[in-house]
Amino acid sequence: MASIRERAGSAPALAPAESIENVPEHVAIIMDGNGRWAASRGLPRLAGHEAGTSNIRRITQAAGALGIRYLTLWAFSAENWSRPQEEVSGIVRILGETLDRELDELHRQGAQLRHIGSLEGLPTELRNAVLAAIELTRENDKLVLTLAFDYSGRQELLAAIREIVAAGIPPGEIDEATIDRYLFTHDLPDPDLIIRTSGEFRLSNFLVWQSAYSELYFSPVLWPEFGPRDLEEAVRDFSRRERRFGNVSAEAARMTRERA
Ligand code: IPE
Ligand code: IPE
Ligand code: MG
Repeated sequence: MASIRERAGSAPALAPAESIENVPEHVAIIMDGNGRWAASRGLPRLAGHEAGTSNIRRITQAAGALGIRYLTLWAFSAENWSRPQEEVSGIVRILGETLDRELDELHRQGAQLRHIGSLEGLPTELRNAVLAAIELTRENDKLVLTLAFDYSGRQELLAAIREIVAAGIPPGEIDEATIDRYLFTHDLPDPDLIIRTSGEFRLSNFLVWQSAYSELYFSPVLWPEFGPRDLEEAVRDFSRRERRFGNVSAEAARMTRERA
C-alpha cells in the first residue's frame, strides 16, 4: 500500500486543461476497490463504500477541470445484487444520502446527471429522487455525468436486441447504428478511455458494445484514494497513445506511399 501512496503522491499537480493535448471526450471509470480499502484499515466494507462515494465529488470536479465532457461512473453492477444483503442495502442507502448531499453542488457546477442501468431495484422514493435529479439538471452543459447503477453490459445488449425484435425491424436493416440507438447510451459517445482502479485487469461486463475501441487504463490505486492527480496521469497516458481503429499509423502510411 505504501508504494501505491508514494506513486500517487509523486504525480505532478493538476495542470490546467490547455496543457494537455488530446483530452478524451468521454472517460468511464470502474470504481473498484472500496472493500479492500476498508479491509486494509480494519473497517467494515460499508466504510469503504462511504469513502468511495465521497470520492466522486473531487473526481467529477477534476474531470471538468481537465476538459472532459462526459464522465461515466460505474457504481453498482447487475451482478453486485448477489453480495450479502447488508452490503447491498448499505450501498443503496449511501446512494440516497449522496444524492441528497451532492445534488445542489452538482447542479451549481453545471453537471448534467444521467443514469444507465435499471432503477427498478431501488425503493420508490429513491428512484423518484434520481429521476428528479436527472430532470433538474437536464439543461446543464458543463459536464455530462452518467451514473451506471444496476448496470451490466450484456443485460443492456439483451434488452436492446429484444426491443429491436419487438419493433419488427427487418434483419437486413439492422446495422451498428441501430444497436447504438437501442442501448442505454444512445445519447453518449463511446468511451474514449476506460479506467479501472484497484489493480484488476478486467471489464467485468461494463459497456460491452461501447468499449470496442476504448483505450484501457488500469490503476493499482484503490478507488477511495484515486485522486485528481491519478486522473490526470491517466489522461496524460491516453493523450500519448495512437488510436488506429484498424488502420495503420499516419507515419506508416506515408512510408508505404513513398516506397510505392
Ligand atoms: C467497488 O468496490 C464498488 C462496488 C462494486 C459496489 P468493491 O466493493 O468491489 O471493492 P473490492 O473489489 O471488494 O475491494
Ligand atoms: C465491478 O466491480 C463493478 C463496479 C465497480 C461497480 P466488481 O468488484 O463487482 O467486479 P469483479 O467481481 O471483481 O469482477
Ligand atoms: Mg471489486
